[in-house]
Amino acid sequence: MTATNVPEPTGDQRDRFLTTAQGVRLPDTDHSLKAGERGPSLLEDFHLREKITHFDHERIPERVVHARGAAAHGVFTAYGSAASVTRAHFLAEKGRETPVFVRFSTVLGSRGSADTVRDTRGFAVKFYTEQGNFDLVGNNIPVFFIQDGIKFPDVIHAGKPQPDLEIPQAQSAHDTFWDFVSLHTEATHHVMWAMSDRGIPRSYRTMEGFGVHAFRLVDAEGGTALVKFHWKPVAGVHSLVWEEAQIAAGVDPDFHRRDLAEAIEAGAFPEWELGIQVMLDDGTDSCEGIDLLDPTKIVPEELVPVQPIGRLRLDRNPTSYFAETEQVAFHTGNLVPGIEVTNDPLMQARLFSYLDTQLTRLGGPNFPQLPINRPHCPVNDMLRDGMHQTVVHTGIAPYRPNSLDGGAPVLAGAQDGGYVQTPRRIEGNAVRANPASFEDHFSQPAMFYRSLTPIERAHLVEAFTFELGKCCVQAVKERELAVLAQVDAELCAQVADGLGLPAPTGQPVRAVPISPALSQVVTEPGPVA
Ligand code: HEM
Repeated sequence: MTATNVPEPTGDQRDRFLTTAQGVRLPDTDHSLKAGERGPSLLEDFHLREKITHFDHERIPERVVHARGAAAHGVFTAYGSAASVTRAHFLAEKGRETPVFVRFSTVLGSRGSADTVRDTRGFAVKFYTEQGNFDLVGNNIPVFFIQDGIKFPDVIHAGKPQPDLEIPQAQSAHDTFWDFVSLHTEATHHVMWAMSDRGIPRSYRTMEGFGVHAFRLVDAEGGTALVKFHWKPVAGVHSLVWEEAQIAAGVDPDFHRRDLAEAIEAGAFPEWELGIQVMLDDGTDSCEGIDLLDPTKIVPEELVPVQPIGRLRLDRNPTSYFAETEQVAFHTGNLVPGIEVTNDPLMQARLFSYLDTQLTRLGGPNFPQLPINRPHCPVNDMLRDGMHQTVVHTGIAPYRPNSLDGGAPVLAGAQDGGYVQTPRRIEGNAVRANPASFEDHFSQPAMFYRSLTPIERAHLVEAFTFELGKCCVQAVKERELAVLAQVDAELCAQVADGLGLPAPTGQPVRAVPISPALSQVVTEPGPVA
């Protein structure tokens, strides 16, 4: 019962009587009220008007990115091994079970697009912890296209369907994508992963997930460490080959969505292990010469191993796609005590973007009250009113401190589980500039290429050749070949050959030398770390 003592809506469509939204039982829903059998219909027909009006407003805007997705409920069980680095209860306490809702997605396609396209995949996890909601809003590729969030609208505009005809596979969409990534060479590492087999996963169940950014974890004593989050699928990492992906897109555009739902239905619950790479928080925000604030860089697992800290199991399909999968609102700013952000300029922009876009997508500021977004712990936020307010607040003084409602609520310090930010030193002039380390755009793509097996390299060459072949501006193709020449001469020569163009000559120019630690990692082909 709510504060006004009325029953909560059950949403059960199997109730005995059909009613209006006002609860009035209906005798007929097939015939409008007309002036005589031959009409016209009467304005006084409240049931006709309510039914049509509600239908007219059924659609909400799709997400500006990651519009196409599939989701499931599950549980996360902590191993307890993270207690040494974080005070977040749901990670630190051995055996603690936390309910989760996980949404997988493609990035660029619209809601009705096919699942098996070549694209990055979203891997967003909402942990309903007893300390509040924590969202780990990750992808299946460990690096991102851009280093600074101010370019996010640009990279998405370049990758979305062409503005005139909205045809994703038309020439001009390929022109804009390749134009952008060849002009912004920081995208090279992400493009290498996207053109590899990782760009066409076999199933959501067989995808890795990555938090991408470095996060700052805080332990019970206030000690801090920088970490990168990894999801490792228990079923292993598997991809489709291009021909399979093409056929699946035609025969069953819901290939991944169906696979996830059917696996859960059959009791073959998908599982992932959550792991962290733990790096020193020594004030440099770097590790072995790798800038941890640069989201286009990985920290190779050979340098910093991934340590398992818990297990995720998806065991329940959504009951309502709209109420759950569509209305769920992930936000990188949904953090709990023990997990903090860093100065990564991509992360900083994300901290603004998610809440902002959801104000439009979900119609105002009260979407955290939707059942799928509601924390599973007490909420007392003093936020009032607004569109779609469903909470009937009690008490007379919606501010604190006050002397009217007994002064409540109290504020929680760290010892009471309050979210107290760990002091983080910030200094420097306000400038629009990157640190020099952000200029190294090629050493990690080169490392990625060298880590591939011969068949994986062949797939990569085929993907570059096919996708660049769709581009109709010669200068753009040549510029991307010049980018590939910086990564690997063999890769560049093979793609150039496939395109019927000459490979650029001359030595690759590296803006920053490869760090000594990196140059020792993966020199022979082998599985991707
Ligand atoms: C969804 C912005 C980078 C992962 C979204 C949405 C926006 C957005 C506006 C739609 C949210 C909604 O309507 O609910 C941005 C911006 C970025 C950025 C501005 C860079 C500055 C990233 C990165 C990752 C990522 C680096 C992965 C590490 C996701 C995922 C979703 C998403 C998984 C879908 C969430 C869902 O399933 O509902 N992003 N994003 N984004 N983003 Fe980002």
